[in-house]
Amino acid sequence: MKPEIYIKDLSEHVGKEVTLKGWLYNKRASGKVKFLILRDGTGYLQCIVFKGNVTPEVFDVAEQLHQEASYEVTGIVKEEPRAVGGYELDATDVKLISSSDDYPITPKEHGIEFLIDNRHLWLRSKRQVSIMKIRHRIVKAIRDFFDNRDFTLFDPPIITPNASEGTSTLFEMEYFDLGKAYLTQSGQLYAEAGAIALGKVYTFGPTFRAEKSKTRRHLTEFWMVEPEMAFYDLDDDMDLAEEFLEYIVKSVLKNNKADLEILERDISKLEKIERPFPRLSYDEAIEMLKAEGHEVEWGKDLGATDETIISNKFDKPVMVHRYPAEIKAFYMKRDPENEKLALCVDVLAPEGYGEIIGGSQREDDYDKLLGRIKEHELPVDFFKWYLDLRKYGSVPHSGFGLGLERTITWICGIDHLRETIPFPRMIYRNTP
Ligand code: 4AD
Ligand code: MG
Repeated sequence: MKPEIYIKDLSEHVGKEVTLKGWLYNKRASGKVKFLILRDGTGYLQCIVFKGNVTPEVFDVAEQLHQEASYEVTGIVKEEPRAVGGYELDATDVKLISSSDDYPITPKEHGIEFLIDNRHLWLRSKRQVSIMKIRHRIVKAIRDFFDNRDFTLFDPPIITPNASEGTSTLFEMEYFDLGKAYLTQSGQLYAEAGAIALGKVYTFGPTFRAEKSKTRRHLTEFWMVEPEMAFYDLDDDMDLAEEFLEYIVKSVLKNNKADLEILERDISKLEKIERPFPRLSYDEAIEMLKAEGHEVEWGKDLGATDETIISNKFDKPVMVHRYPAEIKAFYMKRDPENEKLALCVDVLAPEGYGEIIGGSQREDDYDKLLGRIKEHELPVDFFKWYLDLRKYGSVPHSGFGLGLERTITWICGIDHLRETIPFPRMIYRNTP
């Protein structure tokens, strides 16, 4: 039943007869010839059906094939540098598997709402297939990177009793007789327990934020990878983030050139992503914005426009460190040189793609952390286990979180996060 070969393997079959299975991506006809473009998930192949080479029945099947019909095609593989993928098939037989009448997504332009309503079908289009392949590559690169550096994958719970990234974006649920529970905003707090147990860990999974903002950078369900390392300080953390981003970009450039071409990505921009990356303190970032004539106030978080102005000054990701502690999470360690600052870093992607990484050195002192939890009016009881990590063999430790979909958006050079995840969840959409 399964295909004997796939389009990606055609180079090993030149001159031979093969049978392939897939779907009709597109069709052209000119008199006695039909050009059927087959897609099978591994590539695209032009199949030439000459009236003189096949029976009238087979020519009729080719005639009747509509966009996205599934079919099986047999023929001789030819090298053809001008064809998509470099090969063509001289068809001798075409068999319909299942028809596809009135397929709603045609090669003409469709509005974005229509396309997202039909996301289950839109995923078959060339651009979407390439984005999904790049997503897969990035996920693999992420896992390889950490696996090759003695990190242990550590899976945190998705249902949690408390907030880690502020209480304003929590998805709430009733949890049996135990009161309220929430979908996780980040696996970090649990990863910290993991780092103390295993040295270096990473979590990788879906996280949830009830983001009220309708921007192209926010999903309510997104994937985050969060490494956490014992005995790392902020500088070590930034070094790792830098090496990590370089590795991901290089892996996509090495393995997905064809996909980047389909997306019309300017590859020269990605080729510049090499260490070292520029590092700016928040203070320097504010100075830079002021020098540009941009109104900013020390103490406020950087907005999307501020981030774009900063990132446009460089052709690499920019690491902005030491933000005012006031606007950052409760668990961040303060800078011993200036208690007003947190030992944290945000990495801004180039070309105005915004923040892709947030990270920090964690508060490792029991009393200071307890004080912060109280200041933030968080329920101390639920944080008892987290405080224990500071009671029994506390060590300096750091980590960061990389947003997968924002990273894909940047590397693919696309406008909106919604195309980077198979079925996006946003404030105004939870279907299909
Ligand atoms: O900066 P954030 O909130 O950091 C944390 O959650 C830390 N606990 C990470 C850590 O230190 N272990 O989120 C990290 C990244 C952001 O930089 C962004 O890329 C992504 O997660 N992100 C989102 N992506 C899509 N939609 C959203 N609503 C996102 N919110 C954050
Ligand atoms: Mg952040």
